[in-house]
Parts: sequence; C-alpha cells; structure tokens
Amino acid sequence: MSTHILPGLVDVHVHLRHPGGAHKETIRTGTAAALAGGVTAVLGMPNTQPPITDAGVLDAALAHVATEALCDVGLYLGAADGNAHEVAAAAERACGLKVYLNDTFGQLRIETLAALRPHFEAWPHGRPIVLHAEDLNVATAIGLGRVHGQWVHIAHVSRAEEIRLIAAAKDAGLHVTCEVAPHHLFLSTDDLARLGALGDMRPRLGTPADVAALWAHLDAVDCIATDHAPHTLVEKASPTPPPGVPGLETTLPLLLTAVEDGRLSLERLVELTSTTPAARFGIATPTESTVEVEVGPEWTLPERGWQTKPDWSPFAGTRVRGRVVRTTLRGATVWDEGRLTAAAGTGRVLTFDAAAVAR
Ligand code: NCD
Ligand code: ZN
Repeated sequence: MSTHILPGLVDVHVHLRHPGGAHKETIRTGTAAALAGGVTAVLGMPNTQPPITDAGVLDAALAHVATEALCDVGLYLGAADGNAHEVAAAAERACGLKVYLNDTFGQLRIETLAALRPHFEAWPHGRPIVLHAEDLNVATAIGLGRVHGQWVHIAHVSRAEEIRLIAAAKDAGLHVTCEVAPHHLFLSTDDLARLGALGDMRPRLGTPADVAALWAHLDAVDCIATDHAPHTLVEKASPTPPPGVPGLETTLPLLLTAVEDGRLSLERLVELTSTTPAARFGIATPTESTVEVEVGPEWTLPERGWQTKPDWSPFAGTRVRGRVVRTTLRGATVWDEGRLTAAAGTGRVLTFDAAAVAR
C-alpha cells in the first residue's frame, strides 16, 4: 500500500443543476461530491432551467454559488441562437462558452451555421469555447476554430474516429484540445445490457474498439473530465430516462486502479486531471488544495452512500484499488476519511485567469 498527496482535481465538465434542477443536485450536494472525489475546482455547465444564456441568469447563479459552494466553481455561458454579443459581453464573469451541437439533456442547441458563426466572431479570443460535438461535428468545430482563429475544446470525446481526427488536427498545429470522460474509458457497449438506463449518456458508450482507441491515443487527450450528470433513480427508471451519469466520486478510484494496472503513470494522471485543465482553462490552483490518496488495497465501489444527491453510480460493484483519504482546500481539511468537514461558502467563484494560463 502507498499514499500520495496530489494536487486537487480540476474538473472542467460537471452539471450542478442550478438553477432549476434541485431535485437532481444542488450547488451544495454537487460540490460535496466533488470534495469526496478529491476535486477542488469544477466548471459547471449551462443546460439548466432556465439555461445560463444571459448575464442575468449567470450573475444570479454566481451569487448563489458564492454562498453555497464547498469547492471552487466556475460557470459556463451557453450559446443560443442570437445571444453571441450578450454572452461575449459577460465573458469575464464566466469560465467559458459551451456550445451544444448534438442532442442531449435540456433544450440548449445550436442547429445552424447562421446561429454558430456569430459566436466564433464575438467570443473573446483565447477564452475557452467548449463544444459538445460528435462525429462530423468534431470537424465542424475544428474548422470554425481555424477560420476564426479561436481555440476549441472538444468535450467528452468517445469514438475512435473522433480521437484520430483530433490527434491529426494537433499534429497539423491547430489549436484544439479535448477531454475524455471516465465512463468512456472504463465502460463500453458490452456493459449496456447490465446497466440499462444507468449506462445511458450523451455521447453514448462506445464499442470496445472505441474504448481501446481512446486509451491508445491518450497522448492526444488534454483532460479527463467527468461530465458528472446526475439524474434521480426514479427518472432513470421512467419510460423516457434522461441521459447522463454521476462521476465525481468514482474518477480517482478508477484512474488509480489504472495506475496500479500499469495503464497510466501517476504523473500522467495528475496532468490529465489537474495541471493541464488548470493551465488551459486559466484556473489558478493553490498549492494547498490537495487530495491524499491511498493505492493498493482492493475494495468495491458501493451502490449507495455517495454525496451526489441521486446517490447511485454506474460503477457500483466495480473492484478498485485506489481511494480518496483526505481533501484540502486552501489548506483547510474539507473531506476527511469519508466525512465532509467543509462549511458552505468555502468555495470561491472561478473566472478565466489569463495569468494562470500556460501555453
Ligand atoms: C448531460 C446532462 O444530463 O445534463 N447528459 C449527458 O448525458 N451527458 C448533458 C450533456 O452533457 O450532454
Ligand atoms: Zn455534460
């Protein structure tokens, strides 16, 4: 058995469900789940109710975050048809722009070039544009980024063809980065029969060949981000289950097990989960925000007892060989041996900090 103190994780893709989704998650429960998973900074997605597509909704949500958050939180603005100038004007208070090009949970969607191009023109250059782009839309995102001189970040890459295109774009010198979600690294279509709706998310699980391609091209991946997307078990059991799975609390156990299995080095794990996302997304990470992990002893991820409000995991029953022992935020112990010790408001609001960017 060994213990290590790592920098706190920086997760650039989570759904905190505020405003309008408190039955699924709250700022309090979502950030508690983050700390339990060793995550000290999260960037929250705008597909809320109402969506975060204007300055008023953003500022109200940030005011709520400031009083409730247990870890550091930034919020994305959402691209909609016709709001390019309004969101660009509020960019300073957000952590980035999120563009939904494919179908998923919520109504936020960009369907036409006429709706999309103004965002690439108006959004401040060098600030994150994160795209939900699947298959051909990966090429759309990379092409528009090139034409408009914008950096594009492709969210939750899940398919062999997609990671190959992104690797080729990087080789060609284009300014594109990407993230992969743990469920696309550790689950595949082989798990669908067993998991049912609990294995349904967007993008959907890939084939074992897709999973193998993601592992084979891990050098082209910049970040591992959870796409923590909580929905209740009742919703998941309904005839029209919403897509999405929680992930904040299971990422480190899964990745540390991959380290134990020799599939990943501990140094690379730290780059993918903390230093690179912080450097790309302009997040100044205090050296005293850390996670202590234990590696070696085998245990089973449980069905229940999670901090995330819906209290389930698609990885329940998985044997793992790593766990979070303790999380500290700016030197204060906020998670200690299974116990939450943070007070509401200990988290800070994150915006893009150009000084924290390493290029
Ligand atoms: C997300 C959600 O539930 O908000 N669901 C998902 O399957 N990933 C939306 C998203 O990130 O696409
Ligand atoms: Zn998402």
